[in-house]
Parts: sequence; structure tokens; C-alpha cells
Amino acid sequence: MTNQIIELISIKEETPNIKRFVFQLPESKNFSWSAGAHIRVILPTGESRAYSLLDLKELKKNQIAIGVLLEVNSTGGSKYMHSLSEGDKIEISPPTNNFELTDGSSDDVLIAGGIGITPLLSMATKLNKGNKKYTLHYAGRQKNSLAFVSDLLELCGENLYLHYDNDNSAINLRSIIENSSTGSNIYVCGPLGMIETTKDIAIELGLPNEKIKYELFKTDDEKNEDEAFEVQIHATGQIIQVNADQSIIEALEKAGLDPLYDCQRGDCGICQCEVISGTPDHRDIILTEEEKASNSIMQICVSRAKSKRLVIDI
Ligand code: FES
Repeated sequence: MTNQIIELISIKEETPNIKRFVFQLPESKNFSWSAGAHIRVILPTGESRAYSLLDLKELKKNQIAIGVLLEVNSTGGSKYMHSLSEGDKIEISPPTNNFELTDGSSDDVLIAGGIGITPLLSMATKLNKGNKKYTLHYAGRQKNSLAFVSDLLELCGENLYLHYDNDNSAINLRSIIENSSTGSNIYVCGPLGMIETTKDIAIELGLPNEKIKYELFKTDDEKNEDEAFEVQIHATGQIIQVNADQSIIEALEKAGLDPLYDCQRGDCGICQCEVISGTPDHRDIILTEEEKASNSIMQICVSRAKSKRLVIDI
């Protein structure tokens, strides 16, 4: 499948800063996807942003939907998306899925933080269709911060647990994980803290790695005060400057190279490359602590450098 142009046919305000967007696909194009998949929206700058696809009851043939949180300091994707009007056309990539629902398990536990609900809503839809047992925990700061609540109530019924940080319903990850069934998988999509805590609890409880599946929801706001550094391509010796506001991938692309990548959040592993010398500043959630400590591999979509230069093999 190739990129395609789609038309925005409806916008709904879910919360003061989350909008639901429904798009019409061209009739002639094939577009198949599964729960957990995302598309990339190509921005006017040529950059792209990943958004999980929503499997909503309201969708008709050749329609897709996404939910987008407007980030306070957005300089890219969410600001562009929230500026769109019905009738506008955008370019999207074909769907990709790095967060698949594993068939065959039962009593799955789905845990969402904030806008991380989007892939899990689609998973709940699939589990419902398959008459599978599951629970969906959805956490947010306060009542008006949760999106798609009426869809979820209709979809999940008593399988849905809503958690608000500002009252006594606040999510208790330890209790959820401790009480999950032996055969169930745990799917988490939310901010870094939620994923790291889930992973730590799972390790502490001795759960097998493959039982916990996660996708990081990373906002534009999380770009912090970074410093510039250099990467050198081992095979050619080419030296490329990575500016403070660029990822390694962005710098490589600007230099005319074609690195492999997908999620750009540090959770799919596709951009992983070998580090020949220099010290990476690991910011992914996919490498183990041992792999990070070895400093021999890194995810170039999110990780940066602690040294002035990294020599990498791409
Ligand atoms: S592109 Fe997914 S980890 Fe880098």
C-alpha cells in the first residue's frame, strides 16, 4: 500500500483538548488494519506523526477515525490536526501495527492512560466481537479529561473501569496486575511513567516479559532542553549534526539518508542500530536495562547522546 489522500468528514470535541476525526478513504484504495494499528499523518513540513486507528461503531464503509490530543506546546502534529476543518484533505501512510492483540488468550487486561485509550478502544471492540473476556482500565487526571467515554460505556459495559487521579478511583496498577489471571496478557498504552511502572511491577511479580505488551504515548511537550551532538556513519565516515530540536532520524533524513523507522516513540524497535563508539542517552522503552548498559545498540528515533559524537552503523 502507498500513501493516500483522505478527506476529513467530521470532527467532534471529546474533551476541551481532544478531538475525534473521521475521514473518508478513496473508494478505489485497499485499506485493511487490525486493532492496535496506527497511521502516520504527513504534516505540511514533510514530517509525520503516528495516530492509532479507532474502531468506532459509527464508522461506515471506507471510513477511519483517530483521536488527537492538542498538546500545550505543540509545534507539530497536534496543532496541525486541531487546525483542520471538515472537507480538508490530508495525506496518510498505510496502517502499521506494532501493538497487535494476541489471538487465543482470554481475560486480557487493557490499561490506558489519557489519549493512550485509542488503540485499546479498538482492541476492546475486537475482543467484544470475539466474545472474549477482558477488562479495560482507563485513567485520567479528572472526569472531563477522558475521551470516548460514551462509546466505551456502550462497548464495554461492566468490563470498563474509569479511574480519576483526583479522587479515590485513582488507578492502582499493582492491584490490577496482581489480580490478573495467569493466562491473560496485559496491554498498556499511556505515558512513560505508566509503562515503566507496569514493567517494574511485572518484573517484581516475576511475570514473563511476553505477558506485558505496551505502546508509549509520547507528546510533543516531552521534547525537553536537549543539546546538539554529532553522529558519524560508520560505513561512510559521514558526519551529521543533530540539532537540539531534532531526533537522529530527522537529522539523517535531512542529510539525504533513508533510515528505517516506524513508531518514533522508542517502542517498536525498527530503528535500532549498532553503536560503534560514543555513549547513547537511551530514551526508549524497548531495550532491557542490560542492553542499555551495554551501549552497543540504540533506538535512533528517541535516544540521543551523552558524548559529543556517536559513531553508528545504520
Ligand atoms: S521507530 Fe520505533 S523504536 Fe524507533
